[in-house]
This record gives sequence, structure tokens and C-alpha cells, in this order.
Amino acid sequence: MKILGIETSCDETAVAIVEDGTNLLSSVLYSQIKEHTPYGGVVPEIASRSHVQKLLPVYAEALSQAKLSSKQIDAIAVSAKPGLIGALMTGVTFAKSLSFALSKPLIEVHHIYGHLMAAFLEDPKPQYPLLALIASGGHTTIVQMNSQHDIIVLGKTIDDAAGEALDKAAKLLGLGFPGGPAIEKCAKGGDSLSISFPSAMKDSIDMSFSGLKNALRTHLLSAGTLDEKNKKNIAASFQETIFSTLCHKLTLAMEKTSIQNILVCGGVASNERFRQMLGELPAQLFLTPKSFCTDNAAMIAAAGFYTYQKNGEASLDLVPTSHGSIFI
Ligand code: KG4
Ligand code: ZN
Repeated sequence: MKILGIETSCDETAVAIVEDGTNLLSSVLYSQIKEHTPYGGVVPEIASRSHVQKLLPVYAEALSQAKLSSKQIDAIAVSAKPGLIGALMTGVTFAKSLSFALSKPLIEVHHIYGHLMAAFLEDPKPQYPLLALIASGGHTTIVQMNSQHDIIVLGKTIDDAAGEALDKAAKLLGLGFPGGPAIEKCAKGGDSLSISFPSAMKDSIDMSFSGLKNALRTHLLSAGTLDEKNKKNIAASFQETIFSTLCHKLTLAMEKTSIQNILVCGGVASNERFRQMLGELPAQLFLTPKSFCTDNAAMIAAAGFYTYQKNGEASLDLVPTSHGSIFI
């Protein structure tokens, strides 16, 4: 089954074609980073306008890369929640129009379920049962997956997501947007042990990152003017605290479930230092390939395959929502 996936939940306009949930035929992505950079973050209206402009060319390129005509597509999968509502509407409306015009089923995909399924695009495929950590800009959650459709939430952040904390820290440090990659770059050569930031809720798989952000704010107020070396040390210590907290939570989840297969996905999982720390866990690790950690449409097309098995086709009166509980 060749599924065309569409992703427009935030600031990436992406279309991809994946066969049977795992075989990638094409993946095209237009990143809006440059358009949002002057504002220091994603501006929802600019995101929607840019999706409207780029969706058709990106779609045409995805078909061309896969050497397929639109008639050879078996279904259209679209990221329908959660995300920026205006941005989601562009992709959902486009997907519905395609589904109607081509007489192919429409599949409603949960964006976070998409992140989970991205790891199945590469070999070796993750083995069930597994523990999965989703670490993105809006979510930080650890789940147990017994199969594609049997997913239990074990713990999640009670306030900020890990990516959100990194984004806010980058802003406080004047490192710009997007924050996670900016912190990663700045942290290179910094001493991760130089500042001791707090790590909350040590005994729980749930987590909290808002206190950490406040600790950084307090530290910056008392530190005065920072030179390059100070900034590097702060960035390295800050990201190390987040990553060691996430590794600790995975260790607690392994102890609780006796499951040692671990899948890690979401934008934060593209961080090299984090990947290195995850590699030190006593676990069988299934890391999502870097190019599929941040938002993309291949993960939506892959997730569309499994969602179709469970939920069948979506109605053409589908409306996206900005929120959405986990998962399908
Ligand atoms: O999964 P994603 O692309 O979008 C959401 O669904 O939120 O994740 C975006 C988040 C942002 O907070 C971004 O700063 C973070 O992932 N991120 C990173 C890196 N690349 C993206 N965090 C740390 N290191 C990176 N290299
Ligand atoms: Zn995402």
C-alpha cells in the first residue's frame, strides 16, 4: 500500500510516500526556519501562509522523486492533530481535496504517533515490547508499546516539554531560533559539569522542566555579563541536565517493566550528545534516524499505514485540532 503523507502541523511543509509503513519511496521537506528567524520563534500566520505557498510544489516533487503518478497512490495520510491550528488546516484541506479528486481513502494521523513510527523506517526495526521516549517541542512522554496499536503511557512532563525547555534556554542565552540546535552548537567545547542545575521528580517517570528554566534565569541574573566560555559552559550544563533526566526516566521505566528495547524519537533525539548518552544505557537501543527525528512527512505516511489498519478511512468532514491526547 503506497501512502502519501502530508505534514504541516508547525513550520515544516512536507510530503512523502511510504510503502507498507516502512519502505520509503520519497520524502520532500521545505523548512520555514528562515521565515521565522527574524521573530525568534514560529509565527502561526506566517507558517500557514507559507504552507499554502509551498504545499503543491512539495507534493509534485514527492511524486516525481518516487517516479509515481498521483493515480498510483493508494491513500492520503495527513497530520491532523496536535499543532498550530491554521497550519494544520492547510494540510488537512489539501489532503481532503486530493482524497476526493483521486477517490482514495483519507487517513487521519496523530502527529505524535507519527514520531513513534519514524523509527520503523530504518533497519533494524524496533522490536516489541518496547519503551519509547518521545522528546519533541510540545511533548515529552515515555510509553510502553506492546504492538503498533497497544500503547500505554508510563510517564510524561507535567509542565514544559524537553524541547520547549531547550528553546526557552536558547532565548534566555540570546542564541536564537530554533533553540535545541543552537544550544547543541553552543555547548560544543563547554564543560557540562561546570554548573549544577536541578533535576526534579527524581523518583517518578513523570518529569518537570519548568524549575530548570527558572534556575537558568536565576543563574543568568546573578552571573552578569557572559563571555563565550561562560555561555558554552551554561549551554553544556543545561542540555546535560535535561538529557541525564531523560536517561534516568528511561532507567526507571526499564526497572518498572523489565523491558530493555528502547525507541527514542522527536526533535530532541537528533542531538548528538543525547544520542551518545542514550548509547550508554544498558538497553537495546532503536534510535530514530536523525533526518526523521524532527518533523517530516515520511513519519506521517508510515503512521498512516498502521492507523488505517486500526481506524480505517477518515471522513471528508475531518477537522484538525490543535490538541490531541495520545495516540490514535
Ligand atoms: O519533533 P519536533 O521537530 O517538533 C515537534 O513536534 O515539536 O521537535 C522540535 C523540538 C524543538 O524544541 C527543537 O529545539 C528540538 O526539537 N530540537 C533539538 C535539536 N533539534 C531540534 N533539541 C536538541 N538538539 C537538537 N539538535
Ligand atoms: Zn513533531
